[in-house]
Amino acid sequence: MAVQLQRPHAAVVWFVLCCLSGAMTVPDPRQREALMQLEASMQTGGRMLLTDAERRLDDLLFKMKQKEVMRPDFPPAMHFFKARHLIRTSQIFQLLQQMPKGAALHVHDFSMVDVEWLVKNVTYRPHCYMCYTDIASVRFIFSSQLPKPLPRCSPWILLENLRAKLINATELDNSIMGNLTLFTQQDPDTVYPSQDAVWDKFEQAFLAVWGLVTYAPVFRDYYYQGLTEFYMDNVMYLEVRALLPEIYELDGSTHDRTWTLKTYQDVTRQFTAEHPDFFGARIIFTVHRGINISMMTAVVEEAMKLHRDFPDIMAGFDLVGREDKGRSLWYFRDALFLPSERGVTLPFFFHAGETDLEGTEVDQNLLDALLLNTSRIGHGFALLRHPLARSISKKNEVAVEVCPISNQVLKLVKDIRNHPAAVLMSENHPVVISSDDPALFGASGLSYDFYEAFVGFGGLGFHIGSLKALARNSIRYSSLAPNQQEKVLALWQRSWDKFVSENDLF
Ligand SMILES: *[C@@H]1O[C@H](CO)[C@@H](O)[C@H](O)[C@H]1NC(C)=O
Ligand SMILES: *[C@@H]1O[C@H](CO)[C@@H](O)[C@H](O)[C@H]1NC(C)=O
Ligand SMILES: *[C@@H]1O[C@H](CO)[C@@H](O)[C@H](O)[C@H]1NC(C)=O
Ligand SMILES: *[C@@H]1O[C@H](CO)[C@@H](O)[C@H](O)[C@H]1NC(C)=O
Ligand SMILES: *[C@@H]1O[C@H](CO)[C@@H](O)[C@H](O)[C@H]1NC(C)=O
Ligand SMILES: [Zn+2]
Repeated sequence: MAVQLQRPHAAVVWFVLCCLSGAMTVPDPRQREALMQLEASMQTGGRMLLTDAERRLDDLLFKMKQKEVMRPDFPPAMHFFKARHLIRTSQIFQLLQQMPKGAALHVHDFSMVDVEWLVKNVTYRPHCYMCYTDIASVRFIFSSQLPKPLPRCSPWILLENLRAKLINATELDNSIMGNLTLFTQQDPDTVYPSQDAVWDKFEQAFLAVWGLVTYAPVFRDYYYQGLTEFYMDNVMYLEVRALLPEIYELDGSTHDRTWTLKTYQDVTRQFTAEHPDFFGARIIFTVHRGINISMMTAVVEEAMKLHRDFPDIMAGFDLVGREDKGRSLWYFRDALFLPSERGVTLPFFFHAGETDLEGTEVDQNLLDALLLNTSRIGHGFALLRHPLARSISKKNEVAVEVCPISNQVLKLVKDIRNHPAAVLMSENHPVVISSDDPALFGASGLSYDFYEAFVGFGGLGFHIGSLKALARNSIRYSSLAPNQQEKVLALWQRSWDKFVSENDLF
């Protein structure tokens, strides 16, 4: 392929710069070649040294990509809901599924698992009640006796009884599934004509899932199943943003936040013990940005305490919910500066710049996140409009967690080729790829987002060096201590070498 991966010699750079400022004649082709090489070397992974086997795999990928971009139905140019079946049959996607991708650093607690599992496994368990809300959504609860009715919801129906009356439950199951995800077979732009429409459904789906996943036995199984889905997609470590809600039992009794965090720790340990090539997971405690200042202060206090008491599992703190409609980081400044005022460490992993409302208070979240010493930036979609935030993020290696499918489904970008991360990666800005809420978007694991990044905004310019750099970034920018990162990197390298040799046709 055309891209030469070695760093151009300093003399070439000097020659190019010097001669460009001279009189204009037809440029020397060698000079042109040197310029192109120089520019390509500046991108993420542009200077990665490659083995012969990696080069051969790269040639193969490049040929596949050339074919893919010629397609009239080029998947990254389409809405993911329409593109998904095409992506599934793409050879590049199948390779990306096999590829050891390192870590998923931006994933939310209750959208890790395919909703089909929720319907086919969870709603078929005994004692599962459902009601219909007055805006055609559903709610669930597990209970040993008939639960108290919910406001604006029909009387509770025991699903076991409902299904027993049906000859064929397929339609019911599909309608439940439709309520748990944004994914639809219909035209997504008709179903979700605006950001408001898609966020409304997002919130309804979240509420619908809530009663299922906060039931203690399901909570454990759901998280275990979530780790399984990422592990099957060749992801070896996760940082999960988690609300740590109260978890309930069949008799209505509840467990507190500490129990929830401990359960994450137990299940992670169990999973890791059963899968030695999986490294583990850590939790970023999150709270909704709609709460008031006194609540935020209390939650930050609690986060500091949890971080002190559970240093292994608890990575830090973040706010969730739609940035455009929620309160800004600056609004919560007193609460969020508490840890640094007290000299207590509480790493932040703020969502910031998941917006196209330029110049508003919300749009300042990016700079405020950096002022608050955030460790990474969730989304950073608006970063290109903030040159100062962009340069601080680069200089301090505050990595941007890019979630392409999320940004498309939530209507910040239509054609993935125009995703702003293309610019960030063209200059080796610290970036990781993640999947945010794969179950809500009809995706799973990380591979779909890797596909959109690699084939979509990566174009023909991203190569195997880019993929390798992204996987390594995900480990390097994780919250793990340096000695742990070394271990994960070594584990990753082993799987990577195996992946490369298995796909070496020579
Ligand atoms: C549901 O999931 C649990 C935990 O993963 C598993 O043990 C059980 O067999 C599943 N049940 C069904 C009906 O698939
Ligand atoms: C149940 O209904 C669906 C369509 O709603 C159909 O595709 C499926 O074959 C039916 N299953 C049985 C067992 O009749
Ligand atoms: C949600 O469930 C209700 C009740 O079963 C149903 O009428 C509605 O069509 C479902 N919504 C989706 C998007 O499937
Ligand atoms: C903040 O919110 C909590 C919970 O919703 C409420 O109990 C409390 O009164 C509110 N405080 C203020 C000052 O508004
Ligand atoms: C910034 O955050 C890092 C990581 O949490 C921490 O080590 C450092 O002390 C913090 N610096 C300040 C000034 O708070
Ligand atoms: Zn998110």
